[in-house]
Amino acid sequence: MQPVTIALAKGRPAKQSIDLLEAAGIHFEGFHEKTRKLVFFNKDKTLRLIFLKGMDVPIYVEKGAADIGIVGRDNIIETEADVYEILDLGIGKCKFSVAGKKGVSLPDNQSLTIGTKYPNIAKKFFDKRNQTIETVHLNGSVELAPLIGLADYIVDIVETGNTLHENGLEVLADIETISTKFIVNKASFVTRSKEIQDVLKKLEQVVSEKNANSPL
Ligand code: PRP
Repeated sequence: MQPVTIALAKGRPAKQSIDLLEAAGIHFEGFHEKTRKLVFFNKDKTLRLIFLKGMDVPIYVEKGAADIGIVGRDNIIETEADVYEILDLGIGKCKFSVAGKKGVSLPDNQSLTIGTKYPNIAKKFFDKRNQTIETVHLNGSVELAPLIGLADYIVDIVETGNTLHENGLEVLADIETISTKFIVNKASFVTRSKEIQDVLKKLEQVVSEKNANSPL
């Protein structure tokens, strides 16, 4: 039988995701967050792990190239992937915010230029305010845009707030909180139910133990 494929997002939450899998007794030989290798197997080859950009994980899962995804909700919302969002893994906690130069306010009566890796999320937020925006789609170091005059404001992820602070920017509005999710392909949820439930139960156990031990 084909192994169940887990798509795991590279980048910031990768280490926490690996630690979570390890704590659940799911081990992929030779896998670490800095690896350049892209495909790994567990010992009995029932599970295959593929390691890819966060924004691609929901796509792989929606299209059935992966059965399971472990990925930030930011990527799920932005891609609007049609997948089951099953479990909040309680890691990679951060928020989407609108930010701009310190001391500058966020006007609600004029069109704005927004630098962002997440144009869909930015558009939805400003649509709700009945405000038109032009998005400048960037792929990283988004905080640079208002400093150099490429955009008036940014919509981006804020975790510690250090990147904003170190670049003289501040949060002007919060959009929503996000964290890392366990997602499943809709067909696999039925056809590979037993194997997926097995992985899910192990992770649920670890997440609930972590929640029980964390201070309120
Ligand atoms: C993310 C995000 C911010 C930063 C926020 O970028 O786009 O730039 O992290 O984190 P902080 O609030 O803890 O400073 P990432 O580090 O993923 O790299 P990128 O700029 O290349 O996208």
